[in-house]
Amino acid sequence: MKLDVVLGLQWGDEGKGKIVDVLAETYQIIARFQGGPNAGHSIHFDGKKYVLRSIPSGAFRKGTINIVGSGVVLDPVTFRSECEAIEAAGVPLRERLYISKKCHLILPTHKIIDAAQEASKGKSKIGSTLKGIGPTYTDKVSRIGLRVGDTLASDFKERFSTLKQKHLEYLRQFDFQFNAEEHEAEWLEAIDYLKSFRLIDGEYFANECLENNKKILAEGAQGSMLDIDFGSYPFVTSSNTICPGACVGLGIAPGHVGRVYGIFKAYCTRVGSGPFPTELNDETGERLRIGGAEFGAVTGRARRCGWLDLVALKYAVMLNGVTDLVMMKADVMDDFDTIKVATSYIVDGEPCKIFPFDTRADIQPVYKEFKGWHKPLGGVRSESDFPYEFRVFIKFVEEELKLPVKIISVGPDREQTIVRDEEYSTPYHTK
Ligand code: GDP
Ligand code: IMO
Ligand code: MG
Repeated sequence: MKLDVVLGLQWGDEGKGKIVDVLAETYQIIARFQGGPNAGHSIHFDGKKYVLRSIPSGAFRKGTINIVGSGVVLDPVTFRSECEAIEAAGVPLRERLYISKKCHLILPTHKIIDAAQEASKGKSKIGSTLKGIGPTYTDKVSRIGLRVGDTLASDFKERFSTLKQKHLEYLRQFDFQFNAEEHEAEWLEAIDYLKSFRLIDGEYFANECLENNKKILAEGAQGSMLDIDFGSYPFVTSSNTICPGACVGLGIAPGHVGRVYGIFKAYCTRVGSGPFPTELNDETGERLRIGGAEFGAVTGRARRCGWLDLVALKYAVMLNGVTDLVMMKADVMDDFDTIKVATSYIVDGEPCKIFPFDTRADIQPVYKEFKGWHKPLGGVRSESDFPYEFRVFIKFVEEELKLPVKIISVGPDREQTIVRDEEYSTPYHTK
């Protein structure tokens, strides 16, 4: 069987959690492959909202196994509070959740380093979620990190102390106040909690599942424009958010990849610093922010908002080998008279069709304008009820990206999902 992948094509918060939850019904395994609690994936059903951080968004679906894959960095304290909230909702999480022993652990001192580094950057700060993501991946690459499987070793506490000491030495260079002991007891307790879950050799498990004809859905975190290699560096996260990251983060060979679902909003948002060519620092930006409830699921920060950017989107489609597009949140623009879409840029005065290397370049978008549809999409359940202007908008995006939009989401709830492919066996069919 194949490994299908769900990824964000923009700067994160595209609605990956919602779509994974919708698709999870038809997969046996759902696996997160990178990132950590910097992610906040929202799921709405039965009038309730849940936000998942490190746990895959299939957790609410009966009959699924959810894997926290090796490429994820795990904070045991956040993990514990997340698990307790899900269990309190009546979900038998322990039956459904497996954790790869190769996941790296986020220590309390990783979070302190994150904060100290950001504070020292002044105006050029990245806008990190301060969850310790960058410092944990740095230790992984430096080959000094601690992994989930290490918690089973008898000398784990000594190894923890050794790494903590290294962090404290590193922190001496910063003029930054902190209390390294403040969260240590809670962290060590959370490690014991973590050990009560099934800790597995994730790569063997995932490959056995594929051999046994089980379908795996990989869930990306963040978005392609935040990829460590291909995003707007240095204003990126510290992992590979793009499709190959799923193979590396789960230990599954590239030949197994089947469908690649590319999720995008009908407009754009970005949290934190860095280039955002179509950003709207005006009333329209504010309308998108309020209408789309564009406030971070993790930090509560107001998200920067702007028009859909097809230059960036084409780039992301190319990087990921997207097969199926998924359009989210067009309903937020229900009342707009005009909707704009960037089709190219003027970069430092020159026409440009690619996302520029230089994050300091002056990027002016060239827009195509569309007429608004002035009809509430939130209650629409069938493609045949789409307003004409909305169809025109979708068709244009499909033609530009040379790919079909297979799922259209018109609200946060599971039910507000229109599927345009008979091959998908979700209950959200319209044809
Ligand atoms: P993720 O990180 O990609 O999973 O996305 P987030 O959960 O951080 O942000 C997406 C937000 O939009 C959440 O609050 C969702 O509940 C909400 N949402 C998802 N799809 C839709 C949609 O089609 N319309 C509207 N209005 N909201 C949506
Ligand atoms: P989901 O999975 C949106 C952004 C941060 C910051 C940069 C680096 O919910 O889409 P980090 O904490 O990773 O060092 O921050 O990346 N960022 C996100 N933005 N959605 C996310 O996750 C994000 N995870 C990180 O705001 O600009
Ligand atoms: Mg999010």
